[in-house]
Order: sequence, then structure tokens, then C-alpha cells
Amino acid sequence: MNVLVTDPIADAGLDRLREAGYTVETDYDIEGGTELIEAIEGVNALIVRSGTEVSRDVFEAAEDLVIVGRAGIGVDNIDIDAATDHGVIVANAPEGNVRAAAEHTVAMTFAVARSIPQAHGRLKDGEWAKGEFLGAEVNNKTLTIVGLGRVGQEVAKRLDSLGMDLVVYDPYISQERAERMGAELIEDLHDALAAGDFATIHTPLLPETEGMIGEAELAQLEGGYLINCARGGIVDEDALATAVDDGVLAGAALDSFATEPLPTDSPLLDVEDVVVTPHLGASTEAAQENVATDTADAVIAAFNDEPVINA
Ligand code: NAD
Ligand code: MLT
Repeated sequence: MNVLVTDPIADAGLDRLREAGYTVETDYDIEGGTELIEAIEGVNALIVRSGTEVSRDVFEAAEDLVIVGRAGIGVDNIDIDAATDHGVIVANAPEGNVRAAAEHTVAMTFAVARSIPQAHGRLKDGEWAKGEFLGAEVNNKTLTIVGLGRVGQEVAKRLDSLGMDLVVYDPYISQERAERMGAELIEDLHDALAAGDFATIHTPLLPETEGMIGEAELAQLEGGYLINCARGGIVDEDALATAVDDGVLAGAALDSFATEPLPTDSPLLDVEDVVVTPHLGASTEAAQENVATDTADAVIAAFNDEPVINA
């Protein structure tokens, strides 16, 4: 069986597949489109992260494809309907990078609240700008969590322990689940944002969540901080840049963008109080090893006609 890997995954996953006797090819220059359509011929498993667009055309060309493994959580770069139409399994790795993503969210919360990247840059440039940075503490502040799934819950635990009050907006969870996390469930998104000093986004990117945080929603968070380590496209980048620039928000921190890689058109890159990282949420050694081996196991299970674990 042939496995094609088009985004970098940890060696542990590649080794596991090779040890199982499969031929594994890596080509990290492929981002999708005609290159992938050409490369997919004779491939039985395709493994990607977020850097490869697996469109309907790819499934149409992929006559021998059994499974697409996503070494991570979000499957918004894979046309799931097309996979279903062509009888191809799509398996993500729903657990392995959850703690890494939660830790990165906490890091981004502090980074924006204390202007750490900005102060670091000034000092490296030879300036002692101590008087210019007056930050916000998270202690005794309210955190609004939009989406209390796996990552949202890990963020809740960590920031609860740092003295934050938690409110949650998630139409798909029960009051009991929110209460178990020590959070108040608020049924209206605007009310939930209005209650927060910080808001953090942890929903998938779906037609329903695309653009769900726009000008009107940001206005509810007046004076607060927005953190998005979920997916670009959930937050309207133009509206967010304007809100921070105009002082409606104190700041924002983003790990994901509507256009990746390199969101050169995003106005957020030019706003001083916006902290950005290049989709690093899952970029820890442990997380990458976990998702690579979980994805390899999914491919091996699919090849052996065994149940494939998925989210
Ligand atoms: P999950 O499926 O476990 O949880 C998502 C939660 O969002 C669920 O509780 C669901 O009920 C809720 N939700 C769905 N639609 C909603 C809506 N309209 N409004 C409010 N809540 C809604 O997912 P997860 O594993 O926690 O991942 C969360 C996000 O983080 C995903 O977008 C994932 O791709 C992203 N992620 C990013 C990185 C990174 O590197 N930056 C790493 C891991 C995960
Ligand atoms: C994810 O959804 O798991 C993230 O995009 C992490 C990644 O693969 O970079």
C-alpha cells in the first residue's frame, strides 16, 4: 500500500507506517490543486495537516484512495462531502494536540495582556520602554469561551486556576457540562461577549461559524481582549483590525488566519496591539508525535479493515 504525506509530520508516524510494511512518500511542496491531483494516482492513503487543500477534484482523481488522515483536529481543508461521495474515510487526530493548543492560547492571552512581543521587540532594539507598557491581569477578570469542546475545556481549566471567572457560549452543550467546568453558560453570543474582559474562540470553522465574530460582536467585548487560536475565518479580520486600531478593544492575539500561509493581505499584521503567531498552536514535540502516530494508526486500521477512531 502507498502512503503520500504532503505536510510535515513527526518521524514517529512515518516510521510506524514503514515498519508496518507500507511505502511512504513525502512531498511537502504540494499544497493541493493540480499538483495533488497528479500525485494522488496510485495512492492508498493521503496524510495532511492544515497546509494541503483536499478538494473534490482530488477525490475524483483518487481511484485507489482509502483514507485521508489529518494529523491534527480541523478538517476544514478537506472536502468531507466529496470524500463521502467517493467512499473515502477521513480520520483526524482529535486528542493529541489539545493540550498544546490550550497552552498556546494561555500564552497568547498573557502575550497580548502584557504586550510581551512588543516590549521584547523594543528591548532588542535597544530601548528600555518600561513606562510604555501597562498591562492587564487575568486574575479576577472574566473569560468568555466561545466553544467549550476539547481545547476550550483545557483552556477553561488553566485560566480558572489563574483566578478567572468563566462564561461560555456554546449552543451544543448542556448547562451541567458548563457547570462541571465551573463556567456559566450564556445562551446569547452578544451577552456572553459583553460579560467578558477576555474572549477566546474554540469552535470549528463551519458555514455556521464563519464570520460569527464581526463588528457587532466585537463591540460587545468593548475594552477587552480577543484571542483566536482556532481557525481564521471565524473572526472578521477587517472588523477586528478596526476595533483594535480604534481602541474599541484593548488588543487581540491570533494564531490562525483566513489566508494561510502568510496572510499578507490581513490588516491585522499592521496593528500594534495585535499579537500574531503562524499557526503554532499544535507545534510542540509531544503534540506532533501524538498526532503523527495517531494518524499512522488510523491508516493502518483502515488498511486492515478495522474501525478507525475519529472525532
Ligand atoms: P471540538 O470539536 O472538541 O470543540 C468545538 C466546540 O465548539 C464544541 O463544543 C461545539 O459544540 C462548539 N461549537 C460548534 N459550533 C458552535 C457555534 N456556532 N458557537 C459556539 N460553539 C460552537 O474542537 P476542539 O478540538 O476543541 O478544537 C477547537 C478549534 O481549535 C478547532 O477549530 C480546531 O481546528 C482548532 N485547533 C487549532 C489548533 C492550532 O494549531 N491553532 C490546534 C488544535 C485545534
Ligand atoms: C489543528 O486543527 O489540529 C491545527 O490546525 C493544528 C495543526 O495541524 O497545525
